[in-house]
Amino acid sequence: MKVSSLQPMLLLIILSSSCCLSANAGARDHHELQRFMVVPTSSLKHIPEDATCSGHKVKPSNSTAWVPMNRPHGPCSSTSSRASEDMGIDVDDMLLWDQLRTSYIRTQLSTDVGSVGAGIPIIARSTTVSNRDYTPSSTASVGTNSGTSKSIQKSDQTTTNEHQDAVSQTVVVDTSSDIPWVQCLPCPIPQCHLQKDPLYDPAKSSTFAPIPCGSPACKELGSSYGNGCSPTTDECKYIVNYGDGKATTGTYVTDTLTMSPTIVVKDFRFGCSHAVRGSFSNQNAGILALGGGRGSLLEQTADAYGNAFSYCIPKPSSAGFLSLGGPVEASFKFEYTPLIKNKHAPTFYIVHLEAIIVAGKQLGVPPTAFATGAVMDSGAVVTQLPPQVYAALRAAFRSAMAAYGPLAASVRNLDTCYDFTRFPEVKVPKVSLVFAGGATLDLEPASIILDGCLAFAATPGEESVGFIGNVQQQTYEVLYDVGGGKVGFRRGAC
Ligand SMILES: *[C@@H]1O[C@H](CO)[C@@H](O)[C@H](O)[C@H]1NC(C)=O
Repeated sequence: MKVSSLQPMLLLIILSSSCCLSANAGARDHHELQRFMVVPTSSLKHIPEDATCSGHKVKPSNSTAWVPMNRPHGPCSSTSSRASEDMGIDVDDMLLWDQLRTSYIRTQLSTDVGSVGAGIPIIARSTTVSNRDYTPSSTASVGTNSGTSKSIQKSDQTTTNEHQDAVSQTVVVDTSSDIPWVQCLPCPIPQCHLQKDPLYDPAKSSTFAPIPCGSPACKELGSSYGNGCSPTTDECKYIVNYGDGKATTGTYVTDTLTMSPTIVVKDFRFGCSHAVRGSFSNQNAGILALGGGRGSLLEQTADAYGNAFSYCIPKPSSAGFLSLGGPVEASFKFEYTPLIKNKHAPTFYIVHLEAIIVAGKQLGVPPTAFATGAVMDSGAVVTQLPPQVYAALRAAFRSAMAAYGPLAASVRNLDTCYDFTRFPEVKVPKVSLVFAGGATLDLEPASIILDGCLAFAATPGEESVGFIGNVQQQTYEVLYDVGGGKVGFRRGAC
C-alpha cells in the first residue's frame, strides 16, 4: 500500500516541475534559440526513412567546372542499388575503418613516408569485416573507346565527339592520397572487387598509353608508389598501400579523363589497377586522389585551375559537388583559415582550430591545446580532437543534453550516445568550430550527432594530429586553395 500511495506523489512532482519550466520558457526563448536547435528525432537518423534526393542548392565555386558528388548510401547515391543496402550503414564498421584510416595518416605524418609499403605483395582480398565506407564519391569518364563496335555504329557522332564512348566510372574522392586509379581489364575476381560501372578496358581506348619505365612520370612514383617495371613490356608498375589494409596495384598509365564537358584532362596519369587488397566497398571503380603530393588530380590540373579545388559533402539525402578551380564570383562568401603543409608529407592538408563554442559558451581550453593541428580530410568520418579538448567538449555537450540521459552504450570510439526513441524532438546544443583566422563552421544537428552519438572523438594523445571529419564538413563548400595557402568555408552550399 505504501508503494501505491507514493506513485501519485511522484507524478505530481514531475508535473509541477514541467509546469514551472514551461512558465519560464517564454522569457528565455530568445536566448535559448541562440544556444540550442530543436529538431525532430527522425531527422537525426543517418538516412531518414522518407528521404528523397533533393537537387543542388547553390552554384559550385567554379560553376563551369564541377561534377556531382554524393554519399555512397541514400537516395542520391548512384552505386548502392538494393533498397535494404541503401538504408543500412553499419556505423560500427564505418568507425572501425575511420580509426584505421586516420591512424595510418598519422603514421605517415610522423615518420618518413618513403619507407611505407613498396614491394608488399598483394594477396586476394579476404576480409571478415564488411566495410561500410562513408566517403563521398564522384563520377568521371576515362578513355575514348573509339574502337568499340558501339562507336563504329555511331561513326558520324564519334568523329565530332571523341569522348562519345568513354566509360563512366564512379570513384571515391580522397584528399589524403596522391595516386588516382580505377580497376582495369583484365581484372579477375577475387583479385579485383565487384564494381557497378563497366570495367575500363585500355584495349578499347585509342587515347590510352602505358607510361614507360624510364620516364620522369614513372620515376616520380618514387619508393612510396613505384613497384618496379615489367621487363618484357617496359611498363611502369605502381602500388598504393592505404594502411587500413587496403591496397591497389597495376600499371601506371595515361588516358583522357573527362569529368564534365568543361573538365577534360588529356594524358591524365593514373593507376590501371589489376588487383586490390582489402574491402573497397560500395562497388566503386577506384579512387580520385586529390592530395597535395605528386601525381594527384590537383597536381595534374594545377596549371589550368590555379592549384585549387573545392567540394561540398552533402547529407545523404542531398546532392553535393566537386569543383576544380577557385571561386569565379566575388559574391561567393568564403571564410578562410591558413593551410599548413608538412614538408615531409605534402599529401596532407592541415588546418588549426582555435576554439570550440558549445551552447553559446567557449570551451575553457587554452589555444595551445590545439597546437598539433588537424588534417582536413574528405575520408575521415568524425572529427578527432586532442584528449583535453575532447574532454571539455564532451562535458559541455553532456551537460547540455542532461535531459536525455542516462547515456546509452558507446559505439566504438564514440562514447557519448543517447537513446532518443522516447523523444519526438531533440534539443541539440549549437556547436561551432572556430579556426585560426576566425573562419567558423556552425554545425547543423546532423553534423553534431551521428547515429545518436556525439560525432567527435579523442586522438590517441595530446601530441597526435587531429582530423576534421566529413560529418562536420557536410553542407559547407570546402575550398582547398593550395596555391593561395588557405582553406575556405562557404555555408549552406549543399
Ligand atoms: C573554372 O573552370 C574553367 C574551365 O571550365 C577554367 O578555365 C577556369 O580557370 C576555372 N576558374 C578558376 C577561377 O579556377
